[in-house]
Amino acid sequence: MIEKNEYYSVEFTDMTHDGMGVCKVEGFPIFVENALKGEKADIKIVKVNKSFGFGRLIEITSESPFRKRPICDHFSECGGCNLMHMNYQMQLDFKRYRTRQTLKRLGKIETEVNETVGMTNPYYYRNKTIIPFGEENGKMVSGLYRKRSHEIVDMKKCFIAPKTATDIVKFMKNVFVELNIPAYNEEIGSGVIRYLQIRNSYKFDDTSIVIVTKTPKLPKKDIIIKKIINKFDNVVSIVHNYNPKDGNRVLGKKSKVIYGEDFIRDEINDVHFKISHRSFYQVNPEQTESLYAKALEYAELNENDIVIDAYCGIGTIGLSAANQVKTVLGVDVVKKAISDANQNAENNNIKNTKFVVGKAENVIKSWKNFKISTLFIDPPRKGVHKEFLETLVSMQIPKVVYISCNVSTLARDLNYLKSQGYEVLETTPFDMFPQTSHIETVTKLRLTKQG
Ligand SMILES: C[S@@+](CC[C@H](N)C(=O)[O-])C[C@H]1O[C@@H](n2cnc3c(N)ncnc32)[C@H](O)[C@@H]1O
Repeated sequence: MIEKNEYYSVEFTDMTHDGMGVCKVEGFPIFVENALKGEKADIKIVKVNKSFGFGRLIEITSESPFRKRPICDHFSECGGCNLMHMNYQMQLDFKRYRTRQTLKRLGKIETEVNETVGMTNPYYYRNKTIIPFGEENGKMVSGLYRKRSHEIVDMKKCFIAPKTATDIVKFMKNVFVELNIPAYNEEIGSGVIRYLQIRNSYKFDDTSIVIVTKTPKLPKKDIIIKKIINKFDNVVSIVHNYNPKDGNRVLGKKSKVIYGEDFIRDEINDVHFKISHRSFYQVNPEQTESLYAKALEYAELNENDIVIDAYCGIGTIGLSAANQVKTVLGVDVVKKAISDANQNAENNNIKNTKFVVGKAENVIKSWKNFKISTLFIDPPRKGVHKEFLETLVSMQIPKVVYISCNVSTLARDLNYLKSQGYEVLETTPFDMFPQTSHIETVTKLRLTKQG
């Protein structure tokens, strides 16, 4: 019987989905942070549950050749980059392995899982950075959350956000301190500043800043704007968002553009996009170009295709496909994303698309009488709504391409589609989130048995 505070010498034989090393002590699985498969180490048991426990690394006695010294000083405390202790090839192999295992275990899917498509430089890739503000010992702090907590690690540097985002955060913190505008203190419910959201364009130099406050007013607004635009000439949009509600949601319902316009410009695979502060936009633009190219390849498009882009955001996939097909129909639940999508079609002189606001599971029913040949699905982490899946099966859509940011829900949905006559032909993981355990995949499906 294993007990807390005991010490063991172990060998790690597997890894959890979030990158912890897995070893067995007397046949009992123990998860240990910062340990790699293949390593031997001395550990201390820190928690024992009914069927598994947690340990702390005391000393590595045999180190993996794939271990890398994390380049970030915040690695041990920050909850952001949990794979930074693996070299990059190991991160890519880990993601391929996890995809294959999850599809097999949860979805009973045995399909070809290709090598993970990685980046040449897997740092500074995020085009959107959300930074919480808080107080520690009476001082303002801004950064990322400490692992499994709501405490903020005061950020000196970040290796996955672009350097300009880190510069803006540091600058804004000094401005708030100088103007005596306090951060929101969650515990006592007082203060003003909750978050900064910073978005950068990949192809242009545009940057937008959203200042989220607990209070309906942003104090000394005009001075803040002046200071920002004097310092950063690439800032094209500043938005004040009021979020009085407790909880993890970053943006509140009410926003006001206080400088410039509500968008930044960007370009993916030669299509121009305007992205407003609320619209979903893939966070790694360089990888997005390859991800969409693979999605279009899997769709094997032709000029007679009538295509649905479900969960379309600002229409990025549908607009990338538009010049190869007859018609694109897109749907997203966010009103502003759809107005961006229609505007983006107009700006690119694309005339064969129609994007509508609504829940995908409802809107798809109104397209039942179109002869849909191809469906792109790119749902949020919770996966595709069951009603949507049932409708797509009843419509007998022959070509389906499923883009997913959560392999567990992908496995569940593919299992259902397989049971309804779809063959899962292959999956390619894309490393959209280097240094972290998040996995993005594109999967090719074809209807092989008619219902
Ligand atoms: C992972 S994003 C994909 C966006 C887009 N395809 C892209 O690549 O940028 C998921 C999108 O699903 C939308 N969404 C969430 N639930 C939805 C629902 N029930 N019906 C339609 N859209 C939904 C979100 O607003 C978000 O834009």
